[in-house]
Amino acid sequence: MTAPASPPHPAPTGEIVIRTMAMPADANANGDIFGGWLLSQMDLGGGILARGTAHCRVTTVAIDGMTFLRPVNVGDIVTCYAHLLGIGHTSMKIRVEAWVQRFTDRPQLHVTEGTWTYVAIDPSGKPQAVKRGATTPESTPPEK
Ligand SMILES: CC(C)(COP(=O)(O)OP(=O)(O)OC[C@H]1O[C@@H](n2cnc3c(N)ncnc32)[C@H](O)[C@@H]1OP(=O)(O)O)[C@@H](O)C(=O)NCCC(=O)NCCS
Repeated sequence: MTAPASPPHPAPTGEIVIRTMAMPADANANGDIFGGWLLSQMDLGGGILARGTAHCRVTTVAIDGMTFLRPVNVGDIVTCYAHLLGIGHTSMKIRVEAWVQRFTDRPQLHVTEGTWTYVAIDPSGKPQAVKRGATTPESTPPEK
């Protein structure tokens, strides 16, 4: 008789867009990391995916379904994962998850997630249609 299979460990969804370390300066009076710091990391990470998708400047217009699942500790390695949920005319919905590596010999912990909406904007800050499939310096291999 074989032992019952253990449930699969939950894994992050999406591509890595930010990896950083939570520092003492980012902590609140309880010694945990400020939610606002984490939110700004996730906003930056989602914005990187949005800019790479739209091939132009983007701005955040909305954040939905933000859930703080566990506290982040000073010294945690924080990784933000992002994946595109959908593209509208000028907007993009991107799911961003934050995971932390607390102990080097244990799996990452899922700490926060939310859905960001970014809007592609022109140089004057007005919405513009998302240009799909264009080649940009970011998606072009570096010159040798
Ligand atoms: C984002 C901004 C350029 C949009 O300008 P706007 O004149 O409101 O543009 P629109 O009403 O045409 O909306 C543009 C897109 O955003 C979407 N959108 C607007 N408000 C939204 C909201 N609250 N939630 C989700 N999507 C929203 C619209 O549905 C539209 O999407 P689509 O083109 O794919 O159909 C403008 O609101 C802005 O500059 N906001 C401030 C952004 C900012 O400073 N962000 C940083 C926060 S610190």
